[in-house]
Amino acid sequence: MSDKRVVALSGSIQEAGGSIIRFPLISVQGVPLRNHIATNWDSISAFEAHPSDLLIATYPKAGTTWTQEIVDLLLNDGDQEVCRRAPIAVRMPFLEHFSPPHCPSGLELLKGMPPPRVIKTHLPFQLVPQGFWKNKCKTIYVARNAKDNLVSYFHFDRMNQTQPEPGPWDSYIPKFMEGKLAWGSWYDHVKGYWKEREKNNILYLFYEDMKENPRREVERIMRYLGKSLPDDVISRIVELTSFKAMKENPMVNYTFIPMPVFDQSISPFMRKGEVGDWNNHFTQEQSRVFDEDYEIQMKGSNIPFRINI
Ligand code: A3P
Repeated sequence: MSDKRVVALSGSIQEAGGSIIRFPLISVQGVPLRNHIATNWDSISAFEAHPSDLLIATYPKAGTTWTQEIVDLLLNDGDQEVCRRAPIAVRMPFLEHFSPPHCPSGLELLKGMPPPRVIKTHLPFQLVPQGFWKNKCKTIYVARNAKDNLVSYFHFDRMNQTQPEPGPWDSYIPKFMEGKLAWGSWYDHVKGYWKEREKNNILYLFYEDMKENPRREVERIMRYLGKSLPDDVISRIVELTSFKAMKENPMVNYTFIPMPVFDQSISPFMRKGEVGDWNNHFTQEQSRVFDEDYEIQMKGSNIPFRINI
């Protein structure tokens, strides 16, 4: 893959004046999305999925990249070399990623890729192009407990210079609670896919389960993909997708996005990879207010989230 394409993937970049833009959010059917996504919404929503396409859907920072790498290794029988053929963002295009006009969008990358494709999205269920559901595409959804998801998103917004400015931690929490961050409400996102999981044959996974027993979850994904691999290959996949291995792998650690866009000196993409890091961020009072609101927003839902393991 050409350097130009990798750089262009950063989706960003320097618009007029040469400085990095933290793109503003525009509402699409009530969901705040980065302006380039919103202004290209018609073509994104018209995307025609093929029945053999596989969708990996998440709220941002729930473990998307981890799951993508597991899926690629499973589909390629654990072949490490094949899975280093290109950065993860090229192997599995980001459906709604729309950059400034001179950069390739997710749709452009997909256009040059024959099915079956593995496609990443952060769109909430109701905004996913209808063809995915009509064509009964396999879909893997990964959910992460709200508090750790929020912490991870905060650090990501600090380092990704194309995301809206996160501001200080104490004012970031209410933005998350009110669904004002890019891709909207975490609460609606996790509930939306949960409600549809049976009807649409969605494999609904939890980050915490993956941390607790990665092998069990890799095997779960393998069965969903209709594959059966020998034990030693599964062990290799578990090893290659450990946090440590992925942090050192340039094809998944997002060092392929150039420094001015992802400033990993502020916070690395592969940051901590833990369950319960929220304990190091929330004060007792912040936690109390968050939990109280959580009860209201999640009332009636029975999604088995765990905030510690
Ligand atoms: P932290 O910021 O808590 O470290 P996404 O890929 O959806 O953007 O999610 C990124 C989060 O997943 C980051 O969380 C990152 O460290 C974590 N992550 C990525 N690969 C992982 C792995 N192999 N094991 C555990 N966590 C991983």
